[in-house]
Amino acid sequence: MLSLRSQISTTSSDAQRHTAAQSRSEPTFRKIGAGACGAVFGQDGKSIVIKLAKTDDELSLWNDYHKHTSIAEQFRKWEFKDVRIPECYYFVPKDDPHYFRQNPELAQAAREVCHLPTSALVTERILPLPKDTRIHLIEKYCAPRIKAAALGDEANKDCLVRVYLGSMQGKSGGMFFSLRNFKMHLNQIVDLQLDVTAMAGRMGIAMAIMHWAAKTDARDIEFVLGSSSSKATAQLSAQDIARLPGPVYTGPHSYVNEDFFSRITDLWVLDFNQVQPITMDEAGVAKAIEAAKVNDPYLPKPLGASQIEKQAWNTFASNYITAADAILGDEGDQNLMILPRMFIRGLIDLQERKK
Ligand SMILES: Nc1ncnc2c1ncn2[C@@H]1O[C@H](COP(=O)(O)OP(=O)(O)O)[C@@H](O)[C@H]1O
Ligand SMILES: [Mg+2]
Repeated sequence: MLSLRSQISTTSSDAQRHTAAQSRSEPTFRKIGAGACGAVFGQDGKSIVIKLAKTDDELSLWNDYHKHTSIAEQFRKWEFKDVRIPECYYFVPKDDPHYFRQNPELAQAAREVCHLPTSALVTERILPLPKDTRIHLIEKYCAPRIKAAALGDEANKDCLVRVYLGSMQGKSGGMFFSLRNFKMHLNQIVDLQLDVTAMAGRMGIAMAIMHWAAKTDARDIEFVLGSSSSKATAQLSAQDIARLPGPVYTGPHSYVNEDFFSRITDLWVLDFNQVQPITMDEAGVAKAIEAAKVNDPYLPKPLGASQIEKQAWNTFASNYITAADAILGDEGDQNLMILPRMFIRGLIDLQERKK
């Protein structure tokens, strides 16, 4: 179920909540995630989320808006779809007189979490992983004595899985358990027989685009597994329809409208508020290395002892270089080609120093 682009039918309570919510007029806002910079709110049945700044620092969320848009543009330009990036819609400054007045339900939900008024960023929602997947994760990784609580915890419905290809330290049975930003380490990804090579390769290309096409350091970005919606029932072509005897039913077997779509698991990238521009030189590379060093261990690490660590690193590094070469080749300056190699070298040096 967690395999990339695996299809899952949407019979979970979550899908039902979404379907039910679509027929109601005003679904309520709920907090679905939070970090140091923002609290993120969503509505069941709606495809947007709103990130509200938790502090007075409006510029951080404005930077999120700018860098998210810039990186999304480069993903589009390079026709890169193997890591999904949420659509970045619009920004609301904290002194806007209308926004919270027009959205009283959002204001209501937000009041418990942040000081209003505050600035807001509206983006596409990454759908949570479906119920069967969530139950499986709880069964496998949650300590027995808190399993019942985990299964009943509403917050665990907002389940995105962080992909830590650079860590073999995944353990189960801890004191706390949350499926919100569940951290899945490489040893667990292997244990679940997920395609490590595909994930590592995709991360390599995504990093190359963020560094050399968007010209940013990708600081503090997150890679997560989440759901996307794809067509579950075939859409007939005009030719197919012409061959039919006349008006016949062509919808999903279940007769539930939403079942025309099913969910697939995708790798997504998000959270761009700390992303900084880099220069196309050695100083830019140093900034990118520093950013990779302080980030959570999403990226594969070099010099690992096991076969799988080596495989993840090699795929990451070779895809990174190939993608960077294609991007920088476009700039027509041969001197730039050394830069992505310096980044890879930098990650190896970091790891050597740790040994
Ligand atoms: N577009 C989205 N769709 C679904 N969940 C999201 C989305 N953006 C953020 N979240 C959730 O909210 C959390 C906090 O958002 P994030 O942008 O990481 O804020 P911060 O900058 O404070 O870390 C994320 O870790 C994720 O769980
Ligand atoms: Mg975050």
